[in-house]
This record gives sequence, structure tokens and C-alpha cells, in this order.
Amino acid sequence: RHYLIINGPNLNQLGKREPDVYGKETLDDLVAFIEEFAKQQSFAVTCKQSNYEGEIIGWIHEASSDYDGIVINPAAFTHYSYAIRDALAGQSLPVIEVHLSNIHKREPFRHQSVTAPVVIGQIVGLGFHGYQLALTYLEAHVN
Ligand code: DQA
Repeated sequence: RHYLIINGPNLNQLGKREPDVYGKETLDDLVAFIEEFAKQQSFAVTCKQSNYEGEIIGWIHEASSDYDGIVINPAAFTHYSYAIRDALAGQSLPVIEVHLSNIHKREPFRHQSVTAPVVIGQIVGLGFHGYQLALTYLEAHVN
């Protein structure tokens, strides 16, 4: 199996960006953590990051031909991108939404996810570990 991991805007700034919220580890550290887990579990992952809504939408459109599931952290797009929501709703792969921080104990605008209603489930507040749990779920439940 092969899973697509999509990280949205500003996540390439991990480590430098609000370390009190997101920690000191970088996107490269996150990718290494995910790749190590995939290796242990004998499945493949491809990790992508973009600051551009349209690029993320393109990846979602094309995912079904190459992947068995998607783990997405849409970052700030979570809260307002109906376009990413529609892209997720319009494709057939299983999707899990992940957030590093617990969006529900932060500013009110982060409490809403416009993408959560069109994915299987949402994992929040568990840092890097959330990606591992999302992949574990996909491995167990994807046919
Ligand atoms: C985030 C939470 C979002 O509210 C924020 O805009 C991000 C990161 C998280 O992983 O905790 O960029 O998705």
C-alpha cells in the first residue's frame, strides 16, 4: 500500500514557527518520522507540502490513481477552504485529517473545520504521533 501525506500552508516553517504551539521539530523531522514508521510497517508513503490551495487541490484530484489513502493536514485552509473540502468530497480514497495542535483549545476561528465533515475522522493535538495513528487506521481499514 501507498499513502499520500499532504501538509498545507506554513507547515514548511515548522521548527521556526510558533515553537510554543508546534514544537521545535521541522517538516524534515516530521517527514523522517513518517517515513521511518512506514518502513517499520512495510507500506509506502509520499509526503508533500504546499502553501498553495490550487496545488493541494490538484494533488487530491490525482491521488486515486497512485495511492490507497490520504492523510491531510490542511493547516489554515481547514478553517475556510470550501475548495479543498469539495476536492476531498469529490474523490473516492479514504482520508484522515490531522492537526498537530488541539485546534479546539485555541482561537475560536480554529474550532471550525470545513473539511472534517467530508473525511473519515480527525486527529488533533497529538503532534507528530497523529500522523502515525492516521496511517495505522488506514492500514487496518482500507481494503
Ligand atoms: C494546524 C492548525 C491550524 O489552525 C493552523 O492554521 C496550522 C496548523 C495544526 O496542525 O495544528 O497551520 O493545522
